[in-house]
Amino acid sequence: MKCVAIVGPKKLEVQNREELTGKKGYILIDVIKAGICGSDIHYWVSGEPKGLVMGHEFSGIVIDNGGSTKFKEGDRVTALPISPCLECKECKNGNEQICAHTWEHAVGLSLDYPGGFGGRVLVREDMVRHLPDNVTFESGAMIEPAAVAIRAVNISNIKKGDRALVIGGGIIGLLTALFLKLRGASYVALSETNAARGEKSVKLGVADEWFNALDPKFMEKVLAKTENGTGFDVVADCCGNSPALTSAIVLTRPNGNLIMVGISLGNVSVPLVSAVMKEINIKGSIAYKPYEFDTVIKLVSERKINLEKFIDDIVTLNDVQHSFERLTSGNDSAVKILVDPNKHKIIELDN
Ligand SMILES: NC(=O)c1ccc[n+]([C@@H]2O[C@H](COP(=O)([O-])OP(=O)(O)OC[C@H]3O[C@@H](n4cnc5c(N)ncnc54)[C@H](O)[C@@H]3O)[C@@H](O)[C@H]2O)c1
Ligand SMILES: [Zn+2]
Ligand SMILES: [Zn+2]
Repeated sequence: MKCVAIVGPKKLEVQNREELTGKKGYILIDVIKAGICGSDIHYWVSGEPKGLVMGHEFSGIVIDNGGSTKFKEGDRVTALPISPCLECKECKNGNEQICAHTWEHAVGLSLDYPGGFGGRVLVREDMVRHLPDNVTFESGAMIEPAAVAIRAVNISNIKKGDRALVIGGGIIGLLTALFLKLRGASYVALSETNAARGEKSVKLGVADEWFNALDPKFMEKVLAKTENGTGFDVVADCCGNSPALTSAIVLTRPNGNLIMVGISLGNVSVPLVSAVMKEINIKGSIAYKPYEFDTVIKLVSERKINLEKFIDDIVTLNDVQHSFERLTSGNDSAVKILVDPNKHKIIELDN
């Protein structure tokens, strides 16, 4: 199979590998669309692990059902890429997202289960979901990042009429802003260092206003948008670096809620005094519970949300390296690029 693998820092290579084949208890999926995620960017930058085939956000068609009675060949599907053990205390309490085994065999995030940038994925049957007929493959590949955002909002304590701030206008920030609005936020501000992305958040209708985090008067301009300048009820950091988290803490109101979604592989420094003196509630948010993933599928199918409007481009395997460069350029407005790993095959089929 043709795939894109990590071979070094910021370096991907198109390779030919042996085709993935079916396995009992697993669903073999021919990938139609796979998204490039901000988390993939961390791996790309570090160049590790070498040989990893990324692409944990995907949709496709079942080509081998592994003996399943629920799925058959030809079914349109997407899947949670995670691999919770279902036996530990966390799993038994419905917290699969923090099971110690969740990422061990995750599709597109572990060496043993290549992701969508390999054209085929093998997924545990219990993690696979049917795509309703009216949900496109493009939306299907967007369910996973949207589930990340819905979890962040679910635990944010957002109440109707609250004022919220999202730090970072990548896809996770944009989708978090979308769900904050859907859950009743009366005003959503978004901060960015990339003006093209900031403008896009307002154009797409998910943020009411955007603020340039590089503006020397950034903090005072944003605080002026809050009640008596005391800070936001809910702040979601969808970025993960020190300046972003610093602004998140400073801009949360006393006893307000700060959700940390952004991830950094290294340590970050934060203004501890501000966080402690305001007794703010800081909570990490990782992935999603299975029901949150299912909720997103339902919201798309019921046309309550439109995920396709966030897609900027669809590329082939040959363009994945360039797409990572585009997504990290700091001045490109693109936030979500999907990969069509079997495009040549689809064209053949169409002919
Ligand atoms: N917790 C989870 O489950 C989960 C899931 C997926 C992604 N993530 C993480 O969430 C983060 C966002 O993901 P993404 O795909 O949107 O990534 P992204 O890199 O596309 O977006 C981050 C955005 O933050 C902006 N930014 C940088 N510094 C800033 C600052 N000081 N203030 C404001 N904005 C700033 C960047 O310009 C960029 O647009 C990443 O760290 C990713 O690893 C977490
Ligand atoms: Zn992702
Ligand atoms: Zn477990």
